[in-house]
Amino acid sequence: MARRKIIAGNWKMNMTPSEAVALIEKLKPLVATENADVVFCVPAIDIIPAVEAVKGTNIGIGAENMYFEEKGAYTGEISPAMLTDAGVKYVIIGHSERREYFAETDETVNKKVLKAFEHGLTPIICCGESLTQREQGITIDWIRQQIKIAFLNVTAEQAGKAVIAYEPIWAIGTGKVATTEQAQEVCAAIRACIAEIYDDATAAAIRIQYGGSVSAASAPELFAQADIDGGLVGGASLKEDFGAIVNWQ
Ligand code: 13P
Repeated sequence: MARRKIIAGNWKMNMTPSEAVALIEKLKPLVATENADVVFCVPAIDIIPAVEAVKGTNIGIGAENMYFEEKGAYTGEISPAMLTDAGVKYVIIGHSERREYFAETDETVNKKVLKAFEHGLTPIICCGESLTQREQGITIDWIRQQIKIAFLNVTAEQAGKAVIAYEPIWAIGTGKVATTEQAQEVCAAIRACIAEIYDDATAAAIRIQYGGSVSAASAPELFAQADIDGGLVGGASLKEDFGAIVNWQ
């Protein structure tokens, strides 16, 4: 069975609650499609008004992060139950910005992935290499290690429902999109790694996105690749372009 595409916006630290509602109202008609899953991953404070604003539409709301404990003395953190109770379905885990600025590691990513599944949230698990790593020729080794640690103790059934976002760090917010060959090569390697850890059926089920300067212009060719099942979109998800990306065909 063909995998259904999943196209997610990552708003990052943009949009106040009132701006979020206005943007959703603007994008709603532009992203109405039956051909893909459409997700808006929004800042924590925007979640409640965003869930309200997307009621009755095809848009799912995701969080950009969460903590791996149930509750307690973790000032400033958001728990998985808080997300599910608010109507959140997806959560981005281990974005490179969180790894770089907030000291997230492969180990904390794994803890969060396990916790997300425990609560029925679909994790969008991020991986990606730096420019130095690409130039050193260690991209595939690096990504395989990120994937193997992220999926430690995750069952095959859970893994099949996960979303992985391959985001080369050098392509994020730089306007420098990876070539379709580069993106497809790594996404295929990720799928092969999942087949090694689990089995072919799990590898065939899991959805792998490309992220990094995705635009209305680059989306059609990227999404046509055999192992690219959609995109995780930063800058362009805050604009009308997101409508064109979601309707890439
Ligand atoms: P840009 O699309 O702005 O490059 O951001 C990509 C990204 O980091 C999505 O998570």
